[in-house]
Amino acid sequence: MAATPETVHRLAGRGLKVLIERGAGVASGFHDNAYSDAGGELVDANHDAWGDVRGVLCVQPPSPERLGRLSSGALLMGLLSPHSAHHLVDTLVSREVSALALELLPRISRAQAMDVLSSQASIAGYKAVLLAAAALNRYVPMLMTAAGTIQPARCLILGAGVAGLQALATARRLGAVVVVSDVRPAAREQVESLGGRFLAPPEEVPTPGEVGGYAQAASEAFLVAQRQQLEDQLAQADMVICTAQVPGRPAPRLISEAMLNCLRPGSVLVDLAVAQGGNCACTVAGETVIRNGVTLIGADALPSSVPHHASALYARNLAALLEHVLDSAGLGGGNTSPIPPEPLPFNLNDPIVDGCLFIHGGTCRRPDVLGIDVLNNGGAA
Ligand code: NAI
Repeated sequence: MAATPETVHRLAGRGLKVLIERGAGVASGFHDNAYSDAGGELVDANHDAWGDVRGVLCVQPPSPERLGRLSSGALLMGLLSPHSAHHLVDTLVSREVSALALELLPRISRAQAMDVLSSQASIAGYKAVLLAAAALNRYVPMLMTAAGTIQPARCLILGAGVAGLQALATARRLGAVVVVSDVRPAAREQVESLGGRFLAPPEEVPTPGEVGGYAQAASEAFLVAQRQQLEDQLAQADMVICTAQVPGRPAPRLISEAMLNCLRPGSVLVDLAVAQGGNCACTVAGETVIRNGVTLIGADALPSSVPHHASALYARNLAALLEHVLDSAGLGGGNTSPIPPEPLPFNLNDPIVDGCLFIHGGTCRRPDVLGIDVLNNGGAA
């Protein structure tokens, strides 16, 4: 859900009238009466308000038919998949609808409260470890029992971004011994502060560079050396959590099909990068494959398996961004603020607004990201 009773209350306090489709929050644990108690107005799912609303908060883009009913100057905010949004762009440009794509939010400190990629990646990292632990044929913690001592499970995590660090914290809470691989030097301190062992990148080939805190794509020579390094780790691992990614590129292939033979039967691998091509060979998006006794889980939508808190955090991210858009346009805050003028003004000098305002005034402002096909070498499609 893109709004919860908490954020409806918050936005209503700024003078905004919030419409909620009846029943939309039930699967996430938010009932209609909670929305109306918070000041929201319930409407039927097939309501005809699309032409009248000034903005739409969504998780993923609404249907083309609904988008086609939005009026000029309306604002659409959500996860819009800007890298592959050709049809969406055509519709929104022709209707002069403005669109804020949350994937394009700058990863800067003052944008953290709005950072949907972080809030949802954190949920994915947490749930990936729970899935692996539940599918494992052994205990995770060390246990001293009357029947003897059980050694703790070993967990290998590839990538120490938001998802990888949350996976590390979760695996440690369950009592696993955790090793984490990343190519960014800054990741070492973060991994060690959470009780993990950092596996430094192989030294014989230059490590991929870094821009703005993100790793750049690795050379094939580096990946060959990294795969050799990981073989030993795979042989000792009970759980493997794959989170390594490079923005706008296919995920680095860190585990080949041959390397899967290093894993012991009964071990479990969860590939969170599967939608970007996968860190591991043989993983399939949305499916669990058993290969030689090893469980391979292609986990492409884990936040939706924790819908209550995924929605709670997502809705707060959206409310924070909408408030920021209004504040940065000089529309103030507090209960006395007027309803924003039409069309909504945007402060394009603000780096947060400038970064994620994907479509505005009948043009796509970020043609650089449009058409990047992450599964075809990151080249323009
Ligand atoms: P991501 O999802 O793009 O990538 C996940 C991880 O994979 C990254 O740590 C990356 O270094 C790693 N990786 C890439 N290639 C690899 C390889 N060959 N082997 C092993 N690991 C590899 O990253 P995410 O989670 O979006 O975070 C990226 C950066 O952004 C981090 O530095 C993080 O601290 C920073 N960040 C900053 C925020 C802020 O200031 N608002 C919010 C969230 C993240």
